[in-house]
Amino acid sequence: MRVTTDADVRRVFDRIADRYDDQMRVWERRLFPGSREWAVGQARGHVVEIAVGTGLNLPLYDAATTTVVGIELSERMLDLARRRVARDGLGARVELRQGDAQRLDLPDGIADTVLSTFTMCTIPDPAAAAREAYRVLRPGGRFVLAEHGPAGNPILRAGMRLVEPLFVRFEADYLTRDPRPYLERAGFEIESVTRAARGVSFRVLAVRP
Ligand SMILES: C[S@@+](CC[C@H](N)C(=O)[O-])C[C@H]1O[C@@H](n2cnc3c(N)ncnc32)[C@H](O)[C@@H]1O
Repeated sequence: MRVTTDADVRRVFDRIADRYDDQMRVWERRLFPGSREWAVGQARGHVVEIAVGTGLNLPLYDAATTTVVGIELSERMLDLARRRVARDGLGARVELRQGDAQRLDLPDGIADTVLSTFTMCTIPDPAAAAREAYRVLRPGGRFVLAEHGPAGNPILRAGMRLVEPLFVRFEADYLTRDPRPYLERAGFEIESVTRAARGVSFRVLAVRP
């Protein structure tokens, strides 16, 4: 299968940014209802949100979160997130930066929570992103992920694998990438995994020991 680069990701998301929210809402309604709310509901303290996109999670953070640093590769996605922060008056708590989840420009151990929704499927080197999440978390801090991955049903999984090259080419999206092995190899202990939508929807809580 084609291997994506950071340049591919930037090109794809700069191109689809303006229709991203509408497109994502359709997928979420069908396959991932409540996943975003669940993920943000796990966040505590100082949060690093990797690949923050257009900032769909940002209005959902509550008082359990003190600050959020959102990192995003695509300038156009980030621009839309900045507009959301301004429009919703979130600037006191949210800082947005263009950056790379595979090479975070952040010190070791500063985060209580690293949050990722629908990003490990897109980041070109998810192993590097998992290592970086581990590095910036304090011991005892949590990596919270809502993702998609391979269906439990073998026929459905085969169907996903069949169409995956098209998703990779046009959406930079690896449909059947399971996030768990990357977390384990980075040193995380997986606390819980909940799957729904025939196994396609993943909710993962992982802790840095
Ligand atoms: C499917 S979108 C998810 C956006 C957002 N997390 C959400 O829940 O709506 C994937 C995002 O990952 C970003 N991305 C991919 N690779 C990245 C990287 N290495 N560093 C930062 N952002 C990245 C893309 O630009 C895109 O905005």
